[in-house]
Amino acid sequence: MVFETFVDPLFVVSGERTLLSANSAARALIPFTRIGDPITLTLRSPDILASIDHVLSTGEAQKIEWHDTVPVDRYFDIRVTPLTLDRLGHSVVIVLREITDIRNAERMRADFIANVSHELRTPLASLAGFIETLQGAAQDDVIARKRFLGIMHEQAQRMSRLIDDLLSLSRIEQREHLRPRDPVDLTQVVRNVTDGMNLIAQRHQSLIGVDMPDSLIVPGDRDELLRLFENLIGNALKYGTRPDQQNRIDVSAYYDSAYAIMSVRDYGPGIAPEHLPRLTERFYRVDAATSRARGGTGLGLALVKHITTHHRGRLEISSELGNGSCFTIKLPLTV
Ligand SMILES: Nc1ncnc2c1ncn2[C@@H]1O[C@H](COP(=O)(O)OP(=O)(O)OP(=O)(O)O)[C@@H](O)[C@H]1O
Ligand SMILES: [Mg+2]
Repeated sequence: MVFETFVDPLFVVSGERTLLSANSAARALIPFTRIGDPITLTLRSPDILASIDHVLSTGEAQKIEWHDTVPVDRYFDIRVTPLTLDRLGHSVVIVLREITDIRNAERMRADFIANVSHELRTPLASLAGFIETLQGAAQDDVIARKRFLGIMHEQAQRMSRLIDDLLSLSRIEQREHLRPRDPVDLTQVVRNVTDGMNLIAQRHQSLIGVDMPDSLIVPGDRDELLRLFENLIGNALKYGTRPDQQNRIDVSAYYDSAYAIMSVRDYGPGIAPEHLPRLTERFYRVDAATSRARGGTGLGLALVKHITTHHRGRLEISSELGNGSCFTIKLPLTV
């Protein structure tokens, strides 16, 4: 049967509204499909049935959309076309093309733009507000001016950090299919990051313990791996420490057969299990207010995940409320 060659689900319905034919994609989509059944038993959507009636009565093809919600949300573009065959008389062909992926991508893009706009709008509104105050009420107030300029500087930095992170994400996305292969010494990368973070660590009363071999070479991209550790160690300092005590963060890495396994562990408040699967989504934050107050944009772990994937590695997050968190990355050593 020629219809079998179609990869999309296809049904042929007679003028009497019975099912004449269905290809295997159609039977896979609707398992209770039976030739000879009234079409109302197979395709139950009132919109599809109305369209079949319309095409049979007018002879004009129609295009409709169908949103199926059971068992999961799925979207289809449906073409209902008249077919006149000597043997069958007037009938219609119904072809369903699934567009769920396209719909989801559209929604993600819209959400993404809404998120970016929202993240930029907040610091921008604050900047605009301070400019106005400095032009008016606080014009001659030297102390207020100094304080406001400090806040404005912070907000401007926040916006530029957000844009840097977005650009890094899109750069890595563009090159995701090209695995980086330069030899990179992870021990050096971690040293660089921890040296740069000494001041922040002091502010959080934290000691960063590093347990790594003198040199640990992996195929990769040095800048990306720097960013990865900056994010993980930065998060451990920001969210994995408690203000009323001396804190510890452990960074370790070792070779395990064909992999380099590295982890960043903190002993802070931890993350509730319901948040774990969503942590690497862009802009996802457990507690948005705290993250924002600490200068976070919610893009750090999205970057970590992308960088890991770019290196063909795996990211695992384990955490327990009250017992801290551990972020483990497994990178393949084979080029
Ligand atoms: N070590 C950790 N302990 C507890 N919570 C964490 C830890 N690391 C991350 N989180 C939570 O996960 C959220 C997402 O982290 P992510 O690094 O993606 O964003 P961010 O740190 O808020 O912003 P950015 O990294 O862009 O500055 C954080 O807001 C925080 O709530
Ligand atoms: Mg972060």
